[in-house]
Amino acid sequence: MKPLDISRRSFFQSSLASSALLGKAIAAGAQGTPEQPHPSGSATASSATMVNVPFSSRTPSLGLIGVGGRGTNLLQNLLAADVTIKAICDVVKEKAQHAAGLVEKAGQKAPALYTDGEHAFEQLASRDDLDLIVVATPWSWHTTMAVAAMTNGKHVAVEVPAATTVDECWTLVDTSEKTRRHCIMLENCAYGYNETLVLNMIRAGIFGDLLYGSGGYIHDLREELFSNAGEGLWRRTVHTQRNGNLYPTHGLGPVANYMSINRGDRFDYLVSMSTPHHGLEKYREEHINKSDPKWKESYVTGDMNMSLIKTVKGLTINLQHDTVNPHPYDRLNQIAGTKAVFQDYPPRLYVDGQEGKEEWASIDKYKEQFEHPLWKEEGEIARKIGGHGGMDFIMCYRLIECMRRGLPPDMDVYDAASWSAPAPLSQNSVAQRSAPYEFPDFTRGHWQDRQGSAIGKA
Ligand SMILES: NC(=O)c1ccc[n+]([C@@H]2O[C@H](COP(=O)([O-])OP(=O)(O)OC[C@H]3O[C@@H](n4cnc5c(N)ncnc54)[C@H](O)[C@@H]3O)[C@@H](O)[C@H]2O)c1
Repeated sequence: MKPLDISRRSFFQSSLASSALLGKAIAAGAQGTPEQPHPSGSATASSATMVNVPFSSRTPSLGLIGVGGRGTNLLQNLLAADVTIKAICDVVKEKAQHAAGLVEKAGQKAPALYTDGEHAFEQLASRDDLDLIVVATPWSWHTTMAVAAMTNGKHVAVEVPAATTVDECWTLVDTSEKTRRHCIMLENCAYGYNETLVLNMIRAGIFGDLLYGSGGYIHDLREELFSNAGEGLWRRTVHTQRNGNLYPTHGLGPVANYMSINRGDRFDYLVSMSTPHHGLEKYREEHINKSDPKWKESYVTGDMNMSLIKTVKGLTINLQHDTVNPHPYDRLNQIAGTKAVFQDYPPRLYVDGQEGKEEWASIDKYKEQFEHPLWKEEGEIARKIGGHGGMDFIMCYRLIECMRRGLPPDMDVYDAASWSAPAPLSQNSVAQRSAPYEFPDFTRGHWQDRQGSAIGKA
């Protein structure tokens, strides 16, 4: 992505954009116990829930850890949302310097840089002038860095998946509750145009009683996985270690929102199967020189993982993952109920009683009525800035708005834990002939007393 030359403030300076619609969207759900002042920089004994805990209202100052491909993209979107970036950390000094250049280009003071080794992030986390730390590093660092942020009194927004083991999921929940700091997983797909449109239609009853859905991450990453830069430096390694649904949250997050997971229902258990693995081996055979150390690697991740999740209320979710074979990009994004079914890639809809034969119809005629207020209000600048069709900006903007207005975040630590957990649970199930594995109730029962759904309210 090119350096950013646009900010939301300047974009709207001469516009008459009304905030009435958005105000309505984000006012919903602002309830619960305010976030408590952090006592001492270390965890307290409290373990009260973080469900519906609002941010204390302020314009946040941010620090970023990890400014590779994704961190740089997030930085550009955050700058466009007019936030102050005070500190940046990356083990590669040039990447931190490049990111600092973007901050200065946006008219801000040069941020402090932390580039001295793998644990330099601890110095960033201990600064006393940050409200939120954004983490966009390899998966294995996410929980450690999120914990460092929260125990130092900062809220944290961490890339996907937030955790890679069930223990790590619990560590995030425990730490968030004890420190009274939010841990938000940056699941941008929850803010996609189609995802938020369909969410609004479900809320309006168009789908009737929900029954089942599908989500997936089917993305041919072979070239990236074998690259000697970026994700090639760490992501292929996971394929030598774990066999399961490695990257569940992009497909699962939106479906969880449709089904009001952690808000009236929750994931109960999962069963999982993986196919054999051939994709990486075949790609290596055709593209990688025999002298390359990559030839010493043995891959264990089955190419396509298919997991089935049952919710406590009986709904089912089909969750897929394949990043190593030729296939058009697909997150499935399907939801079906007693009155309608939606399926994405490409988006199509069938509503009971619609005119014509039993054939898919376009979603276009529903856009005017059901377009999400965030897209109505911010869609133009979101599309201009880009980042997965604009959803990255909508997500960043919304998170910062929640902080500015003193609202609870749309997605909290319970969502981060529940949406990340299928990765380790699917590994267990695959290893045990698809035996069912239970999801812990990360909300400790609060899924029953919280209603509604994430992502503002229409
Ligand atoms: N939500 C999305 O759409 C999306 C898209 C791409 C990537 N991601 C996620 O974002 C994360 C980062 O992915 P990426 O594509 O930017 O990878 P990347 O390899 O390009 O960037 C990772 C960065 O982290 C830095 N880093 C590694 N260890 C560090 C440490 N100990 N301290 C400080 N910096 C460290 C690296 O130097 C690098 O700059 C991953 O979790 C990935 O899954 C999400």
